[in-house]
Amino acid sequence: MTDIQEVTKPRSVTVPIRSIGATHRERIAVHLQALEEHDRFLRFGYAATDEQIARYVDGLDFDRDDIFGIYNRKLELIAMAHLAFSRDPDHLECAEFGVSVLKKARGRGYGAQLFDRAVIHARNEGVELLFIHALSENTAMLKIARNAGATLERAGSETDAYLRLPPATLDSRMSEMLEEQLAQTDYRLKVQAKSFWDFLAGVQEVRRGVQDARHKAGG
Ligand SMILES: CC(C)(COP(=O)(O)OP(=O)(O)OC[C@H]1O[C@@H](n2cnc3c(N)ncnc32)[C@H](O)[C@@H]1OP(=O)(O)O)[C@@H](O)C(=O)NCCC(=O)NCCS
Repeated sequence: MTDIQEVTKPRSVTVPIRSIGATHRERIAVHLQALEEHDRFLRFGYAATDEQIARYVDGLDFDRDDIFGIYNRKLELIAMAHLAFSRDPDHLECAEFGVSVLKKARGRGYGAQLFDRAVIHARNEGVELLFIHALSENTAMLKIARNAGATLERAGSETDAYLRLPPATLDSRMSEMLEEQLAQTDYRLKVQAKSFWDFLAGVQEVRRGVQDARHKAGG
């Protein structure tokens, strides 16, 4: 029984996670608008419409908050997290974590890895308490929080999780710097590869056009 579960459970592969800036707004919107109604409900606490998502994305403050993303080879943003820092002057040591993974990419550990990435960044930014607001039915999100050692407080259909973060260390700073560099390099390589494949596809299209024209002229 255990063996079968181990074989069927998808392998969790470590993926490069990069911080993303305002130039990626459009991709963030595409990612969030690809979420189904129930997932939007889980992510935002209400079934956000495309317009509400567009407003949320327009309102993202990339100077204050941090957005982390996982891109696939087609440069599709398949998973992202929003680390929102508190604006309340009395609670500057707090931040909130929100995350979404496209359905086709779930169960591979991306949600958990984005959480780890956000935690290390939050620590390095001096955050002491990280909050996650989730619906009590959201088993996957609550598992991520519980696995990280968060305290969960259930209030009916909603659950607040909070994780106390240890102070930054030289190790946490170095780890984050290294991870960010690797992720930026990985992204640049994906951009190059995609541009090359797009170029090849264009060449093939031209070739097909020439062949068609030749057939027509011959026939
Ligand atoms: C919540 C969400 C981000 C999880 O992403 P994910 O990449 O599939 O999660 P992971 O693969 O990292 O799995 C995390 C944990 O949850 C478990 N899990 C994943 N999907 C599960 C499911 N449907 N039911 C129960 N447990 C699940 C995993 O086994 C793992 O636990 P483990 O490490 O103890 O084995 C994703 O389901 C999602 O985008 N949901 C819609 C938006 C949302 O709910 N956001 C969270 C509120 S801010």
